Amino acid sequence: MTGGRNSLVVLLVSVPIIFGLSSSVVGRQYKQLATIHVTNSMSKDSGAMQIHCKSSYTDYGMHQVGGGDEYECGVRERALYYCMAISGRRVASWHAFQPRRDRSRQAVYWLVKEDGIFLSWDNSSWVRKSLWETE
Ligand SMILES: *[C@@H]1O[C@H](CO)[C@@H](O)[C@H](O)[C@H]1NC(C)=O
Repeated sequence: MTGGRNSLVVLLVSVPIIFGLSSSVVGRQYKQLATIHVTNSMSKDSGAMQIHCKSSYTDYGMHQVGGGDEYECGVRERALYYCMAISGRRVASWHAFQPRRDRSRQAVYWLVKEDGIFLSWDNSSWVRKSLWETE
């Protein structure tokens, strides 16, 4: 009886400590340096595309992004992030986050269009950085 109450007290005290520790570890692990935004700006009839972004440490996997839709993912390490887009038989890949180029930017915007892949830091002025390749 007494033993049971003691272990309940131990449980009530230790559970918040364990949760507190794990959430601070998670908090550190997922602290974001920047956000990568990728918008599918292809013509309506090209349909959905596949977007895959990764660094050497983080792999976000393949995601389907419909026409006009935006995909976003976080930059978790000061490392090079690549994104790849697949639309029909065409493939494009580019440096979505480049530590030296993007330095302290909070957001890096990408537009995936028929005539290439465009970069912006303010989501309004765009520079073409990559082209499509036919598979
Ligand atoms: C970027 O601009 C487009 C077009 O104005 C807008 O639809 C979109 O929501 C903006 N993205 C962000 C993350 O602000």
